[in-house]
Amino acid sequence: MKTIFSGIQPSGTITLGNYIGAMKQFVELQEEYNCFFCIVDQHAITVPQDRLVLRKNIRSLAALYLASGIDPEKATLFIQSEVPAHAQAGWMMQCVAYIGELERMTQFKDKSAGKEAVSAGLLTYPPLMAADILLYKTDLVPVGEDQKQHLELTRDLAERFNRKYNDIFTIPEVRIPKVGARIMSLQDPLKKMSKSDPNQKAYISMLDDPKQIEKKIKSAVTDSEGIVRYDKENKPGISNLLSIYSILTGRAVADIEQDYENKGYGDFKQDVAQVVIGSIEPIQTKYYNLMESSELDDILDHGAEKANRAAGKMLAKMENAMGLGRKRR
Ligand code: TYM
Repeated sequence: MKTIFSGIQPSGTITLGNYIGAMKQFVELQEEYNCFFCIVDQHAITVPQDRLVLRKNIRSLAALYLASGIDPEKATLFIQSEVPAHAQAGWMMQCVAYIGELERMTQFKDKSAGKEAVSAGLLTYPPLMAADILLYKTDLVPVGEDQKQHLELTRDLAERFNRKYNDIFTIPEVRIPKVGARIMSLQDPLKKMSKSDPNQKAYISMLDDPKQIEKKIKSAVTDSEGIVRYDKENKPGISNLLSIYSILTGRAVADIEQDYENKGYGDFKQDVAQVVIGSIEPIQTKYYNLMESSELDDILDHGAEKANRAAGKMLAKMENAMGLGRKRR
């Protein structure tokens, strides 16, 4: 059975973009693959975090994974910092990566632009991500479009390691969904929907209540043509709403366009809001139940155990390949 690894940062609220681009796919993939899903808290501290808020966000993300349909009987759900092999392998991958290639990462450039104090961790984030993936002999990494460059670097680093030391890593493939790989901001449909957007109207949080969702979608920026038609270049706002509608209902965009042939944006937005609420509400109900139960800790303990076992084996291979420590008997 092929192996899948993916991670989400527990920084801020999880958005509809994270759900559509990542979580929703994970739920489908767990049926067919050996899956590891990670709460990457060590990645989150590459930018400043409040310790209490981070702790809360880690728990909240774990509950959201489960509420969205991740089944701990089928997939391994765990917290990155509870599997020390990630940081250890991350260090080794830092020593394989070159500063120049890390400086070229667009996420590093975006997140460090105009800032005076940028942590070294923000620069060395991609080798840690490579370690996350490579530790599990991962075949496939399902992510949204914005992670493509990091995946390319992961492949380069794995190939370099295999050439330089020993051929131990599986070279992972990226898996980006055909539709929904880049859900756009509701306020500026040329930008991706992001949890770090200072304008809260730009994104839908998975924990927004129905009224907030309706308000945000009604005030989504569109165009003046008045025709519900998919045209990413000239109608990015409407196209984004059409993508959201299509993915959440499983209906083809062309069918949805037909439904709104003689209707305006008001009706369309109202229905998009209902579709989003209909998808999110059952997840929220499960989420609030999980947050109050002790089940969550048991699942995470068990996940960490399974992940430690798998990652420990690869870590030993990496140390052997690089000549770290003493030869193990
Ligand atoms: P993060 O936490 O920013 O996002 C988690 C996942 O959500 C996807 N995503 C989106 N998809 C569609 N539309 C959007 N607007 C949108 N915004 C986010 C992301 O592409 C991602 O799949 N570096 C990663 C975390 C990570 C990781 C890994 C991922 C660490 N180690 C190993 C895969 C494998 C990140 O910051 O994702």
